[in-house]
Amino acid sequence: MSFEGSDVNGSLWVGEGGKIHVIDQRVLPFREEEFILNTLEDACFSIREMVVRGAPLIGVTAAFGMYLASGNNSNNIMETLEEAAAYLNSSRPTAVNLFTATRRMLETAAYCHDPAEIENTLFLEASRIREEEIVSCRNIGEHGLPLIEAIWERKKPSPVQILTHCNAGWLSTVKYGTATAPIYLAHQKGIPIHIWVDETRPRNQGARLTAYELGLAGIPHSVIPDNTGGHLMQHGLVDLVIVGSDRTTRNGDVANKIGTYLKALAAFDNQVPFYVALPSSSIDFNMEDGLRNIPVEERSPEEVVHTEGWDGLGITRIRVLPENSLARNYGFDVTPARLVTGLITEKGICPATEGGISGLFEDLKI
Ligand code: MRU
Repeated sequence: MSFEGSDVNGSLWVGEGGKIHVIDQRVLPFREEEFILNTLEDACFSIREMVVRGAPLIGVTAAFGMYLASGNNSNNIMETLEEAAAYLNSSRPTAVNLFTATRRMLETAAYCHDPAEIENTLFLEASRIREEEIVSCRNIGEHGLPLIEAIWERKKPSPVQILTHCNAGWLSTVKYGTATAPIYLAHQKGIPIHIWVDETRPRNQGARLTAYELGLAGIPHSVIPDNTGGHLMQHGLVDLVIVGSDRTTRNGDVANKIGTYLKALAAFDNQVPFYVALPSSSIDFNMEDGLRNIPVEERSPEEVVHTEGWDGLGITRIRVLPENSLARNYGFDVTPARLVTGLITEKGICPATEGGISGLFEDLKI
């Protein structure tokens, strides 16, 4: 099985001399650059400034951040690691993967009897989290593929039209992506597909990252302004919506990039199936209800005031608002479970309900 364009190193890898490399997502698709994480500070910076982004990759980066912190010689290594976890946890609030990863790394360190072994143990644990995310995404692909196959059987020879929001591709995980994993497999099987890519203002993760990934893989796609999806659905031009998630709560409420909720409403109104593809690392098993409780990141209004693009020579920012207008920049919204057709996870597809989730993840129930 191959997911073109994402099956070499992925978005984070361990290079020569054990250095942690990530792809610098701030400059894609215009420049392909790497960023090296040498310190805890580098890991925090890369999450906060969105060198890396996407819930699973944020979790993996935080895990390696904890490993990097363990290299600091200190008398009280557990205290150092607790401070490192708090620091990483303050970088972005919404993706639950961050908090799960730092907690898991702290627990792993606490079990380590020999303090001299902690650094090596944490490196292995971070590598394990990375590997688990890769396996989860591959399995999400396998479980999601039949949804696309069923639509193809119904409507062939017309291509299957799938809409996605933001970037839930391999850049946001490590490899394969969540929403894109079934798409890669369908393409590989020769099913004609076409992807509607929401541009995803203000940071344009769809236009810049998802379009880049799909282009590398040769998958037909069109980038659309964020407010186009409803119109397409009304005209029968969307067969299926698949998005990712930053945090899904026990009752099936889904936090994802701002604008996801509006797509879910439009899909519901037009009887278009709306699926959320996510690994269990993005499920918050400790949170009952998402609408009331998920912390929604509010980023700098500067990201709305300006937009960024390639001017032929370099990446440039231009102002798009009048001088005196104020702006607000909510990063995520919460789609209520009732609007979600199903959750595509590494263990299979389930209804977006407490019963559906606990049916698949019995062992993770608290
Ligand atoms: O602000 P971002 O770019 O980190 O937001 C990312 C998303 O909303 C993705 O859809 C989500 O993390 C799913 S990742 C597979």
